[in-house]
Amino acid sequence: MFGKIMDFRLCEDSLVIVTDDTPIYVEAVNSNCFRIYEQKAYNSFAVTDYTKGKLNAKKVDGGVSITSSFGKVIIRDYLMMEFYDNNDNLLLKSNDSNFKRTYETNCLAQFEGHSVLEEEKMKVRLLFDIKENELFYGLGDKTGWLNKRGYEYQNYNSDIPEPHVDSFRSLYKSIPFYLSLCDELTYGVFFDNTFRTNFDFGKFNNILTIESIKGEIDFYFIYGNNLKEVVSNYTALTGRYPLPQRWSLGSHQSRWGYACKEHIDEVVKGYEENDIPLGAVHLDIDYMENYKVFTYSEKKYPKLKEYIKSLNEKGVKVVTIIDPGVKVEEGYFMYDEAIKNGYAATKNGETYINAVWPGDSIYPNYLKEDTRLWWGDKTKILTDLGVSGIWNDMNEPASFKGPLPDDVEFFDGDNYYYHDEIHNVYGHLMSKATYDGLKKNTGLRPFVITRACYAGSQKYSTMWTGDNHSMWGHVQMAIPQQCNMGLSGLPFIGTDIGGFGGDSTAELMARWIEVGCFSPLLRNHSSTGTKRQEPWCFNDEVTKIYRKHVNLRYELIPYYYDLFHEHESNGLPIIRPAILEFQSDKKLTNQNDQFMVGEYLLVSPVVLPGQEQKLVYLPDSEYGWYDYFNGEKVSSGYSIRSAKLNEVPLFVRGGSIIPTAKVTRNLEEDPQELILKCFPGEGNYTHYVDDYKTFNYQNGEYNKYLFSLKDDILEVKTLHNGYDKTYNKLTVVYKNKTHEFNFKDGKYRLV
Ligand code: GLC
Repeated sequence: MFGKIMDFRLCEDSLVIVTDDTPIYVEAVNSNCFRIYEQKAYNSFAVTDYTKGKLNAKKVDGGVSITSSFGKVIIRDYLMMEFYDNNDNLLLKSNDSNFKRTYETNCLAQFEGHSVLEEEKMKVRLLFDIKENELFYGLGDKTGWLNKRGYEYQNYNSDIPEPHVDSFRSLYKSIPFYLSLCDELTYGVFFDNTFRTNFDFGKFNNILTIESIKGEIDFYFIYGNNLKEVVSNYTALTGRYPLPQRWSLGSHQSRWGYACKEHIDEVVKGYEENDIPLGAVHLDIDYMENYKVFTYSEKKYPKLKEYIKSLNEKGVKVVTIIDPGVKVEEGYFMYDEAIKNGYAATKNGETYINAVWPGDSIYPNYLKEDTRLWWGDKTKILTDLGVSGIWNDMNEPASFKGPLPDDVEFFDGDNYYYHDEIHNVYGHLMSKATYDGLKKNTGLRPFVITRACYAGSQKYSTMWTGDNHSMWGHVQMAIPQQCNMGLSGLPFIGTDIGGFGGDSTAELMARWIEVGCFSPLLRNHSSTGTKRQEPWCFNDEVTKIYRKHVNLRYELIPYYYDLFHEHESNGLPIIRPAILEFQSDKKLTNQNDQFMVGEYLLVSPVVLPGQEQKLVYLPDSEYGWYDYFNGEKVSSGYSIRSAKLNEVPLFVRGGSIIPTAKVTRNLEEDPQELILKCFPGEGNYTHYVDDYKTFNYQNGEYNKYLFSLKDDILEVKTLHNGYDKTYNKLTVVYKNKTHEFNFKDGKYRLV
């Protein structure tokens, strides 16, 4: 495909390298990445911010050397590439062998029921050398551990109900982006190809393989002086999650099986009686009429509009599930409209039918703008009922009568595309349609959850990790999985707390909420047919533990909201591995049982049964570490901390100023009081306030405050004053003493 280099020329900041086969294009993008690609027939689904910069190209021995302000790439015959930073450090180099991953099909092993990898015919293949100390992160929601070196994965959105284990190559999401850390050197690669792609991080040897079954090379080499900058630059390219409504940071309760209004009544009452805040209930497929999307069963949920209103008045929002499959049924408006207007995917020109929950169903062709607009407008049916968010499921797309064939057609109005290319962006496009529809109908910040997604879906949706199981392995996996999702540009994420499939034990539930209360999306969800797992379904101890940790989360909502505000400008995740903050600490390179919330809090939960103590590791931090709960100084390095069933070890860096709030039941109420938890040392912190729901902040309607801590004095300074409501009371907790002030600019002595 790529031959010998014959010539090259620069034209309007694009370099064309003419080979004796396919030409290669090179561009410098956003002042921090090189894009190397073949001619593409359409625009990227993921990339939204693309500013071309200046390039210089000159002939070097056996190739072309291309420089831009941020680095250099040398491209030689047959697309052999070498990437350097501005200090001439080699970051990534093509491997010049003919290495092919060969698999042996062992029939006997297969006969016994083992899965055997068969060779795949991959069209596009790029090979690179892996350096001795190189580590890999990212790639979205894949199973396994934080560092991906030595493992191999496939991007093909997959709904697999069996417990997700390390040997799974694919899960629901396709994020063809990884980050590399080698000693102090970092970079990222985004391979923008929506077909089935493989990433092999040296499973067989020290060769990194990136390959795809079809399509073209569209390769972004992303620079960054550290992992944070790489994440930031990747999300600048593919988009960031826009500020959420505050209520969505509350606690959500869901279950497949809330079959009627009375079941929801029970849930709401249970939360009230047990004094646990509840921000939202989710209606799974049970609320629909025969699983027909955009309908609801009047019999099971009579007077739904009035009912939702009554829930909203208590501060409980309602989120409804919407699957893509539209039931084949003449007379059903969704089906009739889809057929009449050609909104469904086709095969050989005929409407394509497979089956999902409603039985035989058609698959909306979200590639076509008309379909997306139609779908987005339908969300009004739900928002008119008072629904506050939409949960998009089954959008890999899942199917019950065998997988969708590769040649199912998606017509975009001009050209036909096929399922093998659209599969990995189906959930992405559905989320986009839903996001745009909700925004148009309500004017509020949309709340969408999706199971399947592609790179860049973070612009439209939050995500959960799909059908996990009530097993210890899955509360363990929740940590590296969410950390890698965060590094892959997906900030608003969560797992089904307690586990979706299988039956949770009391101990597992207690430990899961101690992890899950820190997930940006805090949702307890379980499958029909499993043991009930609302917080009070175990015993008094678990109810208390659940209450304690949901309360902790509500206390920290101002901190979470600030993190989301920062994410919008820097793209950094909310929960993150400590390696992102302490990049040179080798002990953190594959740390799988701790994580950080922002740059100040470090959580070290217990994720094994029977433990009452936890081996904690705290990296060196300028002003040391403190126990969040009792303010005691904790030494850096390894230590063993008490972690009884009701305790999650939570640490905070010295010099931190953590904004917190009193726990309120209704997150729509404007907080009057800000409680700053300050820890000895020096530090600055920027706090952000707005109306928590509209887009008015984009017109300057927000307040921003700078808090500084030094020599036992806290200073408050208003940086931006654009929103009329603010706090009237400031409470400061410092060295175990509480101080109360009026909230205004000034210096406050704390000792
Ligand atoms: C899928 C979803 C799960 C949902 C179920 C029924 O399995 O992943 O969350 O409860 O479908 O809608």
